[in-house]
Amino acid sequence: MKINPFRRPRGTHDLLGETLDLVQLLEQVAVDVAVGSGYREIRTPLFEETRLFKRSLGDSSDVVEKEMFSVVRRGENVDEKLKEGFTFRPEGTASAARAYIQGGFHANNPIQKWFYVGPMFRYERPQKGRDRQFDQFGVEAFGTCAPSLDVEIINIAIRFFKELGFGDEIEVRINTMGDIEDREVYSELLRNHFSVQVDKKQRCGDCLARFERNIFRLLDCKSLECVELNKGVPKLISSLGSESAEHHQALIKLLKELKINFVEDSSIVRGLDYYTRTVFEIHYPPLGARSALCGGGRYDGLVEEMGGKPTPGIGFSVGFSPTLLAMSEIGLPENSRLDEFKQLQNPDVYIVAVSPEQMVFAFQLCEELRDSGFKTVVDHRGKSLKAQLKEANRMKARWAIIIGEEEMSQRVFLVKDMSQKQEFKLRAEEVFDFLREQ
Ligand code: HAM
Repeated sequence: MKINPFRRPRGTHDLLGETLDLVQLLEQVAVDVAVGSGYREIRTPLFEETRLFKRSLGDSSDVVEKEMFSVVRRGENVDEKLKEGFTFRPEGTASAARAYIQGGFHANNPIQKWFYVGPMFRYERPQKGRDRQFDQFGVEAFGTCAPSLDVEIINIAIRFFKELGFGDEIEVRINTMGDIEDREVYSELLRNHFSVQVDKKQRCGDCLARFERNIFRLLDCKSLECVELNKGVPKLISSLGSESAEHHQALIKLLKELKINFVEDSSIVRGLDYYTRTVFEIHYPPLGARSALCGGGRYDGLVEEMGGKPTPGIGFSVGFSPTLLAMSEIGLPENSRLDEFKQLQNPDVYIVAVSPEQMVFAFQLCEELRDSGFKTVVDHRGKSLKAQLKEANRMKARWAIIIGEEEMSQRVFLVKDMSQKQEFKLRAEEVFDFLREQ
């Protein structure tokens, strides 16, 4: 029977070779930047109860409405709270807040600074820089609402991009969503402002649907007609209460004093419900409507909303897919950077057994070298000396150790420096010290 070829699902990737090198470089930079700023890793499950995401991201968010990968629980005796089943995490903030509450951190150690790097799942229409399984680097900090923490978080995101070689190509856009009460006042203002446009059907289909569900999203609509219609819309800044206004002013002042480049952009409203006060995005504008490489902000009401004690929080997430797209357009990473990174994975030693009789010895030597911390490869293919050396070259091994009949009987090996094309004849007991000294 002929089987239809198996293919990976749309919006997913097989990561290997050069592509995986790049992803691993991003992972490494993420870990270095986060750990370097005093953040510790958190690994939450890849799936959570569906109601967690509904509660935190909001029923009317695109993610919850259209993009969740969910598993429904069947059967009659299912616990009421599990009836909605489980969902592969579409983002990391909800899980972090859940872990904060479940771990009882509020009582014992309220300030927590965490980071994560890993896959997220959204049933989006796959397109350039948008996948159904994609990696995010995220950072979440709980326990203080000091504006200086907002600056720290924004700076960590900027540092990540700088470390990868980005310069002026990226733009940091900042806005405030105010507190919950501010948002109520503002949504009323927006409703009045937009109702004429909606009645006359001047807005796009998405905006018409969002007018009832999530009026803020009309502000970040990317359709050209809607962008035009958004000119002159009232700004939230004018509806801010005194505390959130002070927070925003303090943040802007700090950013200016620290000479951090940013623009204030009232169209940054974020697509998830939990945001309060500071929101920000980092864009690579040439990517057009999908130019956000990173998004984040404060979620001071989230922990309480999820049943915990009132605890402020702030964080961001960077998407690897759009970041890699932007990097390839700019010509990043620099070759030397990637080579340096790849070099860490190249073998130190490639062992060549000239004929099968030397194989046991070759394998023993290989294991001893591995025990001593050398990345070592032994050729199992039974090919000619020439073919084995060619493979050592292809794998960019630093050294090849050649073991033939004569070498074995005399216990003297040929150690070949693959880059310099130099050769050294060394006695068995000298090999380790020799390699260590290089
Ligand atoms: P988000 O804006 O939904 O925020 O996602 C953050 C970033 O993830 C986006 O700017 C984008 O680069 C990337 N991203 C989102 N969806 C996809 C996709 N389908 N394919 C590839 N990349 C994607 C959050 O996820 C929040 N949890 C951020 C946050 C953390 N806020 C506070 N803390």
